[in-house]
Amino acid sequence: MKNKSFQILSLFIVYLFVGFGCKTIKQPFTEYSITKSAEGRNGMVVSAHPFATKVGLDILKKGGNAVDASIAVQFALAVCHPTAGNIGGGGFMVYYSDKGEIATLDYREKAPAAAHKDMYLDAQGNPITKLSLDGALAGGVPGTVEGMWQAFNRYSKLNNWKALIQPSIDAAEFGLGLTKREADGLNGISKSMEEINKGKTVFNPKTWKEGDILIQPELANTLKAIRDRGRDGFYKGDIAKKISQSIISDGGIMTEQDLADYDAKWREPIITFYRGHKIITMPPPSSGGIVLAQLLHAMEPHNIKSLGLHSTALTHLMVEAERRSYADRSTHMGDSDFYPVPLKALIEKNYTFDRMKDFDPSKASPSANIKEGLRESEETTHFSVVDKDGNAVSITTTLNGGYGSKYVVKGVGFILNNEMDDFSVKPGVPNLYGLIGAEANKIEPGKRMLSSMTPTIVLNKDEKPYIVVGTPGGSTIITSVFQTILNIIDHGMDAPTSVAAPRFHHQWLPDMIYTEDNCLTENVRNELKKMGHTITSRGKIGRVEAIILKDGKLQGGADPRGDDDAKAY
Ligand code: GLY
Repeated sequence: MKNKSFQILSLFIVYLFVGFGCKTIKQPFTEYSITKSAEGRNGMVVSAHPFATKVGLDILKKGGNAVDASIAVQFALAVCHPTAGNIGGGGFMVYYSDKGEIATLDYREKAPAAAHKDMYLDAQGNPITKLSLDGALAGGVPGTVEGMWQAFNRYSKLNNWKALIQPSIDAAEFGLGLTKREADGLNGISKSMEEINKGKTVFNPKTWKEGDILIQPELANTLKAIRDRGRDGFYKGDIAKKISQSIISDGGIMTEQDLADYDAKWREPIITFYRGHKIITMPPPSSGGIVLAQLLHAMEPHNIKSLGLHSTALTHLMVEAERRSYADRSTHMGDSDFYPVPLKALIEKNYTFDRMKDFDPSKASPSANIKEGLRESEETTHFSVVDKDGNAVSITTTLNGGYGSKYVVKGVGFILNNEMDDFSVKPGVPNLYGLIGAEANKIEPGKRMLSSMTPTIVLNKDEKPYIVVGTPGGSTIITSVFQTILNIIDHGMDAPTSVAAPRFHHQWLPDMIYTEDNCLTENVRNELKKMGHTITSRGKIGRVEAIILKDGKLQGGADPRGDDDAKAY
């Protein structure tokens, strides 16, 4: 009899846990271990945050492929890395399958239908900086959910959309412990968030500290709608209505129709070769692929290793190539659906060789018309994923500025991007980031704003993935990817060393070499100055996530500049 009662009690306890679902046992996610270097044979994820890396790796272990894991990582970053992870933004994916299939997916945000070229100008025609940076008018129509939906429908192996989103729903619903960096980031924007949102959001006003639990119930509900209804859960119905109502009531122009009309696009990748390696990278509306191709082409005639990492001669060569390519970016690049970008001509090797003909190894060639300082926002994020079959995914995704427009869309809990600021707000003059914009990148309804995001996959000479790489960093994205590829191919570095190495950047205008503090010795700086260069130290450049595949092994490097985490199994 005693035994029987015990059995009934046990059954009742099991019923409580199983019958009432998991709620009784769900906990905030607080256990982080950050690994900067990882090795494995079966799969690897390198991302900006240990929660996202864990979620992706779990999907790989459950038999998902690199695309499944990437979708899970993208949604996880929207919860754990609000400064750049997003469902309110967009991104680009570069994919290489174990069967040799190559694809690039453009889920960049689009200008709403009511957008027009003068929308951020005052009556005198001067840019009103704040409007394209902060608040409800700064956002393009988000592309992330559509992008993930299309990637899932085309390439998922797990065929279980819900399983890819559930970990993120749980994290939003039950909470995530903040890292010190995330806590500091939220504290840094608390005041502007309060102003922009006219009061309280889940992020403000509050002084956060490491280990505090961030709970995002509205975001959890939005993710549930996406889990249950796919892309329509976001772009149609209740959520779309709330997004549009919130944005329009706060001075924006995004309609329900804009959301319903959003489409992501599979595009022809940019393919080029560097020292016999096939480089697969992103075409317009990113400038990243074209500029990266030009920079690599400019290096090819030179023996980079013998010039020496961070030597005067190599830094000068790289800067002179960057100066020329970023000049092309300013004039020729924009959304190729709206503007005839001369893509083929720009990525011809002979074109770059011609451009470098006046390269003088002893002298800087000054960029004309120095205008504004470097102000490109840098809070994008990148992740690299490889699965056990050798499928590789390289995704860079963004809200543009740190925490995007800092506008938390009411009732749906996500932060809206401020990607409209990546357009040339006034063609013909330097844009708000110090980059010169032109007709090619002027605002037009339905157009995508020019990007620098450069998710890239490099193949080895057997046409198998060799390097999976990318980074945030605004206009510095391209030069950081460029330097990482040289670090690996020419300087022979492993993945962790290649992402940790100090970096520098030049973007034509302003005519300035920007360096990290620990990059370039005093002697090299003096020599470069004598050649006519202007140099300034700045903060950290980029957060590169790289995977190297070699001899059946995966080696990951997560950038030491952030909470970035590499894990493998
Ligand atoms: N918002 C940064 C970029 O797309 O380049």
